[in-house]
Amino acid sequence: MSSFVLAGARILGAEKTDIVITDGVVAEVGPGASAPGATRIDADGLVALPGLVDLHTHLREPGREDAETVESGSRAAALGGYTAVCAMANTDPVADTAGVVEQVYRLGRDAGLVHVQPIGAVTVGLAGERLAELGAMADSAAAVRIFSDDGHCVSDPRLMRRALEYVKAFDGVIAQHAEEPRLTAGAQLHEGEWSARLGLTGWPAVAEEAIIARDVLLAEHVGARLHICHVSTAGSVEILRWAKARGIRVTAEVTPHHLLLTDALARDYDPVFKVNPPLRTDADVAALRAALAEGVVDVVATDHAPHTVEDKECEWPYARPGMLGLQTALPVVLHTMLDPARLDGPGAETPGGTEAGRLDWDGVAERTSRRPARIAGLAEHGLDPAPGVPANLTLVDPAARVTVDGGELASRSRNTPYAGRTLPGRVVATFLAGTPTVLDGKAQL
Ligand code: DOR
Ligand code: ZN
Repeated sequence: MSSFVLAGARILGAEKTDIVITDGVVAEVGPGASAPGATRIDADGLVALPGLVDLHTHLREPGREDAETVESGSRAAALGGYTAVCAMANTDPVADTAGVVEQVYRLGRDAGLVHVQPIGAVTVGLAGERLAELGAMADSAAAVRIFSDDGHCVSDPRLMRRALEYVKAFDGVIAQHAEEPRLTAGAQLHEGEWSARLGLTGWPAVAEEAIIARDVLLAEHVGARLHICHVSTAGSVEILRWAKARGIRVTAEVTPHHLLLTDALARDYDPVFKVNPPLRTDADVAALRAALAEGVVDVVATDHAPHTVEDKECEWPYARPGMLGLQTALPVVLHTMLDPARLDGPGAETPGGTEAGRLDWDGVAERTSRRPARIAGLAEHGLDPAPGVPANLTLVDPAARVTVDGGELASRSRNTPYAGRTLPGRVVATFLAGTPTVLDGKAQL
């Protein structure tokens, strides 16, 4: 039996209290709460959040263990405050069978740093031609609920309709990488001023928006659940707002990088800023922040996409798209979305409420933990620390400012777009089912 007391923690930024964890569960919450023989953890002033849940992580195993493994990605996740990640299916072999999703699931369990929930491919080999064995993956030990061809769009509308119909039977979700491929052939950068100036083929916003418009209509027609990966344009937000107002079962994610970075960063042709969908404009960033605050975009998901030096540090057109995200997601969200007043004292003491368009800690927890856990069907995650709840939680120092150093990240890859940036918030500790995976900002396994 193991017990911990998190002394002086502020649950969702509220007043200081003590949290007792015993045998994997939050046993007691309240000033002076304790348990015999418990290990005391000084959490004075730290904000306690439900462990973060990522709906969109590329772990690269099997197949590209030189870029990331389930273990190295899990370590990055725990250090970033995550207790669960959903592993994308674009591995080699593709996670399109019960065998591969069970392999990823077991690798995650063996690493023991976060819950790794495999996402299954929608189509065999991500080729967009035939449906994969969705039912077999759902019935497997990995109990897959989210299916995605991410990296590729399910562009055939008939196949998309079939996939939605199939997963409806077990309340599964199709997570779409919205990109009409006939509009993005050869695309390198957001189609706009910077693609024109730099002479790079443009990736027009309409290539994303056209697929989202089509798919929300398909989801309505079928009555099934649709999730839109990495929404990146102001126009996509308008379509989602319309769809949600109509009662269509659609959810959406935005990445930290689309909340902070823009296409102007491509000006020096540094491929660390190459990502798919591409970085967009200031107006898109503003619309995405507002949509996340409003709830039209439901959650933040990292799209953590590790790539080796060979695949990333080459000329822009040859570089793979994607950037690291797990260890910097929360600081970027706090920087872009949290009411700055909350970075210091307890929220209750902030006069005048939350600044317009900004979140309080509860709002951060909703978008980085509770809602993603609900979308993924992870019943043990995304729960506020309270007696009887599984102890999946993270402690954040809101007063800390950390300068990102690519070489210090736990990922096997280095492709962070935030190197040298100073961001607010530091993950001090993470608990997975009552076991510390991170203490004092260091991984425990
Ligand atoms: O930038 C991206 N990288 N976007 C994707 O859709 C796939 C991902 C990857 O797998 O590297
Ligand atoms: Zn994608």
